[in-house]
Order: sequence, then structure tokens, then C-alpha cells
Amino acid sequence: MILELRNRTADTVITYFHRTRDPEVRRHLPQKTATESDALADFEKTQQPGATSYGRTIYADGSYIGDIWCYCIQQEERHAMVSYCIFDKTYWGKGVATKALQMFLIEIKERFGLRSVGAFTYSANAPSIRVLLKNSFTDTETFVEDGIESRYFQKDM
Ligand SMILES: CC(C)(COP(=O)(O)OP(=O)(O)OC[C@H]1O[C@@H](n2cnc3c(N)ncnc32)[C@H](O)[C@@H]1OP(=O)(O)O)[C@@H](O)C(=O)NCCC(=O)NCCS
Repeated sequence: MILELRNRTADTVITYFHRTRDPEVRRHLPQKTATESDALADFEKTQQPGATSYGRTIYADGSYIGDIWCYCIQQEERHAMVSYCIFDKTYWGKGVATKALQMFLIEIKERFGLRSVGAFTYSANAPSIRVLLKNSFTDTETFVEDGIESRYFQKDM
């Protein structure tokens, strides 16, 4: 399988918005944007100079299957948070998120001069925890927020 990270565009933002309405995806990754125009406005903000988030699309053999992004980019601390979503469930369990995260970490380390990255995931999200562990993240904290147990993972770059 050929895996590529490509630029986000208004078209991919709209596709992502609709594909991530899937309840199984939303159970693990709540969507903060309620409408297509909110999603496009958020995307526009990421295109501005000094934006604190940055995202890429994930393509497998030429098909758009998900997104990966970093947010809360802290220039002084050289730290950022990462997250990802493979909305095309036919690609789950094939190592795609693991490889995409590996590629994305190399890119953002160079682009933002990061020294460390963090990631939040629900404790019940076993596949996401595996993706982080396979990328050498350390499970550093368990906490409960809004009644849901979550974990914080961290990795030095
Ligand atoms: C989480 C997600 C990104 C994983 O993507 P993926 O491409 O399937 O991940 P990979 O194939 O690289 O790795 C998944 C790992 O989890 C394992 N796994 C899958 N289901 C599992 C389960 N129920 N229990 C334990 N492990 C499980 C797989 O076996 C694999 O581990 P392995 O390589 O050691 O065998 C994908 O399911 C997704 O997009 N989910 C919805 C959004 C989401 O949860 N995003 C993360 C928010 S923190």
C-alpha cells in the first residue's frame, strides 16, 4: 500500500466533515465543528501566519481515507499535541494510522522544531493507544473528564 500525506483543501475539509459523522468514529473522537461552514472557518484559521494548528490528509493508494493534525503548537516550549482519524473504516487494522503518525512526526519535528509531542485518547480506544505505543509514546497520565476515563501520552522527539 502506498501511503501519502497531502495538503488539506476546502474540498477535503468538507469530505472529512461528512465522513466523520459516523457514530463509531464520533464515539472515539468527538467533532467540535457542528456545521460545514464552521469546519471551513476552522480550516481558514490554520492557513493564517502564526496558526497554532497544522493538518495533513492521509491517502492510501490514491484514496483519501483520513486526516492527521497537530494543535496547541507552542513555539517557545517546542511542544504540540497530535491527533488523527482514519474515517474510511475499510482501512482499519492495516497499520495505516501507525505509519501516518510516524511520517507526520518526522514532518512536524522539522517544520516546527518540536522537542516533544503529546496526545489524548479515551482509555477505551484500544486501537489509538496501540498506535501511540507503536510510535514510542509513553502512557503518562490517566484522568476522568465529563465522566469519561482518558489518557495522556507523551513522546520526546
Ligand atoms: C484509532 C485509529 C486511528 C486506528 O487506525 P488504524 O489504521 O486502524 O491503526 P493501526 O492499524 O495502525 O493500528 C491499530 C492497532 O490496534 C489494534 N487493535 C485494533 N482493535 C483493537 C482492540 N479492540 N483491542 C486492542 N487492540 C486493537 C490493532 O491490532 C493494531 O495493533 P497491532 O499492530 O499491534 O496489531 C482508527 O481506528 C480511527 O480513526 N478511529 C476513529 C478516530 C479515533 O479514534 N482517532 C484517535 C483519537 S485519539
